[in-house]
Amino acid sequence: MDVYDAIRQRCSVRKFEDRPVKEDVLTRVLDAGILAPSGRNTQEWKCVIVRNAERRGLLAEAAEQEFIARAPLVVAVVSLDPVREMYCGIQAGPVDCAIVIDHMTLAAVAEGLGSCWIGHFDQDKCRAILDVPPPAKIIEMLVMGYPADSPGRKQRKSPADLICWEKFS
Ligand SMILES: Cc1cc2nc3c(=O)[nH]c(=O)nc-3n(C[C@H](O)[C@H](O)[C@H](O)COP(=O)(O)O)c2cc1C
Repeated sequence: MDVYDAIRQRCSVRKFEDRPVKEDVLTRVLDAGILAPSGRNTQEWKCVIVRNAERRGLLAEAAEQEFIARAPLVVAVVSLDPVREMYCGIQAGPVDCAIVIDHMTLAAVAEGLGSCWIGHFDQDKCRAILDVPPPAKIIEMLVMGYPADSPGRKQRKSPADLICWEKFS
């Protein structure tokens, strides 16, 4: 699949078929995340793959979002060093993890999967559920599975609102 097609087709999916993600498909999606760039190539992240139904239920509760329990797969993307700043004063960990997730979401489209980012969750509860030790933090979670709903139309601001040239305006 062309990368532009994947970008256009990707949308948040919150309803999934009741069947597991095939092993080879999952491997390719995870590989796409592994190929993501990171600042200084430190790769200071780890993905926790959650397929266990009870654990997904606990994560759904901690995220106050029921549909998470009904997704066959949850990927929690953990930054091992979430506070280290780049020279520009921005934390590197969350940026690196976001790129990993975005690579996975696009690979998921190419594999016929749907996904949805999950940023609304209780950090401490989810860390306890997944045994994530400090100082590591879960940056985002991604739910994934074969989609059971059709994509909605993308609502986006216009290029004029989002892009400016040469100087900020
Ligand atoms: C950082 C981030 C956090 C998000 N957190 C959630 C979430 O907790 N629950 C949810 O249902 N959707 C979540 N979303 C999905 C957004 O609502 C969705 O991407 C946005 O409305 C645009 O729709 P689209 O993904 O279909 O293009 C999140 C997306 C991003 C990028």
